[in-house]
Amino acid sequence: MIYTILLYSWIGLAILLFPILLRITAPYGRHTKSTWGPLVSNRWGWVIMELPALLIFPILFFVGDGPKTYVTWLFLGLWLLHYTNRTLVFPLRTRTKGKKMPLTIVLMAICFNGMNGYLNGYYMGFMADYGESYLADPRMMIGFAIFAVGLLINWQSDAILLNLRKPGETGYKIPRKGLFRYISCPNHLGEIIEWAGFAVMTWSLPTLSFALWTAVNLIPRALDHHRWYLKKFPDYPKERKAIIPFLW
Ligand SMILES: NC(=O)c1ccc[n+]([C@@H]2O[C@H](COP(=O)([O-])OP(=O)(O)OC[C@H]3O[C@@H](n4cnc5c(N)ncnc54)[C@H](OP(=O)(O)O)[C@@H]3O)[C@@H](O)[C@H]2O)c1
Repeated sequence: MIYTILLYSWIGLAILLFPILLRITAPYGRHTKSTWGPLVSNRWGWVIMELPALLIFPILFFVGDGPKTYVTWLFLGLWLLHYTNRTLVFPLRTRTKGKKMPLTIVLMAICFNGMNGYLNGYYMGFMADYGESYLADPRMMIGFAIFAVGLLINWQSDAILLNLRKPGETGYKIPRKGLFRYISCPNHLGEIIEWAGFAVMTWSLPTLSFALWTAVNLIPRALDHHRWYLKKFPDYPKERKAIIPFLW
């Protein structure tokens, strides 16, 4: 009962927050501001704020008494694949020496990742009931393909950005490879596609809530990044869109 109330409230909050986030620039990365309170190391901030998602989902999966099948193990594996990279690999690859982010952002992200880890992990551990035959279900196959495409776009785009800087550099350049030819933030687009695929594959409300939250977070961030690029670089490609090729 508490779970259901939390889940519907979480979805409602995402819908309410979207128009607000379109007007607020989240102050981390290139948009970092000291007016949001004390600052902490950017690299460690990333590790700490993503950790709840990496830990809570598997803990609830293992503690839960729901049926464990190849299908639920696969869902756990995909979650861990994404969050091991995001929590432990991505921060170590960033070239952000000396850069900071507000502690407020870290605390907000801990709540965000904690809630998503809880809602999705509890569902997979205690409630999900996928028989082995679900592996041949069209939702599983189509969703898996969407997830894989999203993951590859996200990883490729993150890698292009991280390779723009030589060791020791912390400034910004115009990315020109991969899907950056068409949009300013394919890393964000890839992540949105990825979790939309996970929602299709798992066909459940908690995973849909996470896909929704990802879009609510990352569409405003991509629009902010796009405006920032246009202002910062006079030679920024004018035909490039923010997050959807040729459209937006
Ligand atoms: N699921 C979610 O809700 C969620 C929320 C947030 C982020 N994410 C994911 O987390 C990852 C990072 O997100 P983000 O918004 O922080 O990405 P970002 O702003 O694009 O930055 C990614 C990394 O690349 C560097 N970088 C970006 N643009 C650059 C440029 N033009 N020249 C040189 N270096 C550049 C950044 O350095 P600086 O830090 O110095 O800018 C940072 O280290 C993405 O894959 C995103 O999808 C997911």
